[in-house]
Amino acid sequence: MITSNELRKKYIDFFVKKNHAHIGSGSLIPDNDPTVLFTTAGMHPLVPYLLGETHPLGKRLVNVQKCVRTGDIGEVGDATHCTFFEMLGNWSLGDYFKKESIEYSYEFLTKELNIKPENIAITVFAGDDDAPRDTESANHWLRLGISEDKIFYLDKKHNWWGPAGQTGPCGPDTEIFIITDVKCDKPDCSPACDCGKYVEIWNNVFMEYNKQEDGAYVPLKQKNVDTGMGLERTVAMLNGYDSVYEIDVFQKALKVLKENATLENERAFRIILDHLRTATFMLGDEKGITPSNLDQGYVLRRLIRRSIRFARVIMLEASHLTEIVKTYIDEYGDFYEELKTNENKIIEEFEKEVEKFAKTLEQGIKRFEKMVEHIRNKVISGKTAFRLYDTFGFPIEMTVELAQEHGFEVDVEEYEKCFKEHREKSQAGSEQKFKGGLADNKEVTAKLHTATHLLLCALQKVFNDPNIQQRGSNITAERLRFDFNFDRALSKEELQQVEDLVNEAIQKEIPVTCQELPIEQARAEGACGIFNDKYSDIVKVYSIEGYSKEICGGPHAKNTKELGKFKIIKEQSSSSGVRRIRAILED
Ligand code: ALA
Repeated sequence: MITSNELRKKYIDFFVKKNHAHIGSGSLIPDNDPTVLFTTAGMHPLVPYLLGETHPLGKRLVNVQKCVRTGDIGEVGDATHCTFFEMLGNWSLGDYFKKESIEYSYEFLTKELNIKPENIAITVFAGDDDAPRDTESANHWLRLGISEDKIFYLDKKHNWWGPAGQTGPCGPDTEIFIITDVKCDKPDCSPACDCGKYVEIWNNVFMEYNKQEDGAYVPLKQKNVDTGMGLERTVAMLNGYDSVYEIDVFQKALKVLKENATLENERAFRIILDHLRTATFMLGDEKGITPSNLDQGYVLRRLIRRSIRFARVIMLEASHLTEIVKTYIDEYGDFYEELKTNENKIIEEFEKEVEKFAKTLEQGIKRFEKMVEHIRNKVISGKTAFRLYDTFGFPIEMTVELAQEHGFEVDVEEYEKCFKEHREKSQAGSEQKFKGGLADNKEVTAKLHTATHLLLCALQKVFNDPNIQQRGSNITAERLRFDFNFDRALSKEELQQVEDLVNEAIQKEIPVTCQELPIEQARAEGACGIFNDKYSDIVKVYSIEGYSKEICGGPHAKNTKELGKFKIIKEQSSSSGVRRIRAILED
């Protein structure tokens, strides 16, 4: 048996002996790459050095890097997918190249890990217009003793790595596979086949190119080697396990699940094991990620909420989730010291989010109970189920579960359709973000902007006073701040009424429409807004039927339903006769 600690140590020691300097893992948030949310590979923190900057510790480096890849989150639950993983890596920054890199890999695998050469298969780059066929790598493998029938030439889709984001260092790679007992009857079976016969464990990238924004591959100043070996997968393979969840790091957490869950469900177990481990590393990261509706914080929130949802599936109380988080701090804290340093913060933030979502779920359940009173044919439409999910974060599994209790059915097929449509839209959204990084911010601020309009209208309605007007507004990606004329503090009840009115408008799912009108007409139609010189003759008027009509430049949400849940977090004096409200939108 080999443990994760042992493999880490073996790997680092081996490359230190080969004159590599051991560097620590970088943060989960990349420093040098605004085009992606997380560090996805060991090379990510090293981009400047791969591009030619001098590294203070020299030209040969080794490390274990914490990585997050959430692209396959839907696949988590099977035997191999994880959203967090550790990558063992060694680098040559313009020092050795293909020959030594391949020799080191071969020596480590066969001498240190005792893998039989006949169980190793190799892929190399077949060549195209961007780079030539990599016969050099193939020849090194042949020379070391890998037989010709175990060396496969594959195209760019398989044997090219990087850049990690949109641009940056990349190049052809040679990948190392372990041949398993799986029998495949496809005549053209190769490491590209998904039969499971070949398990990839190491990737040696020969980074000679810098991909430009226009897609061109420009040769780099120096030839680098970047390698990556997935720790979890390698430990599982070396121990003959069928699944990465069998490796040591998960065992304490699994015990908590087995001892406390009422129901056994392997998929739910794995999802919880995976998501909570990733959440622990995100919360404990040196750059401090906390749950939010934006970027890294949003991914973290999703992971925690999904864990809670699956905890319900196996009837596990939420308090045990904290226990699981603690097992990870314990398991990894010696190697990743930040987890120990940030232990209190990890637990506090985690529990805060669990509590928050418990409330959301409660509201969703109330809403569900109300809704079923009005359904006659005992079928909850897919659209309604999707609305519960989209507005309240109310998982379909729970809608089905509750529906059954009431003797109802759910049109799951229609739900899936709505979900797919939504996912396609949001994937388009995240691709957008991948490109610009700012797209999502814009969306969030647009929603907060729409909330500001609803807030003004709610204040006017609650105090039955159309003279209440905006005196100032400031929106960040996290919150809105709104100043208005009013001469005393608002009571708790009044604030609640205002909040409720805004949420009522959100729940009514009202379209936000925009017209361009001459300013006189806008005024005549009762649009509010501060009429002064700053407006041109033609103005934009944003309307939320039944609630608000306001002159404004936008942009806004398309429908109030996008806003989620409106919450006032503070009310205070701004200046004499002017009050200030801060509010947020929750999932
Ligand atoms: N950067 C390479 C990978 O992630 C080693 O596979």
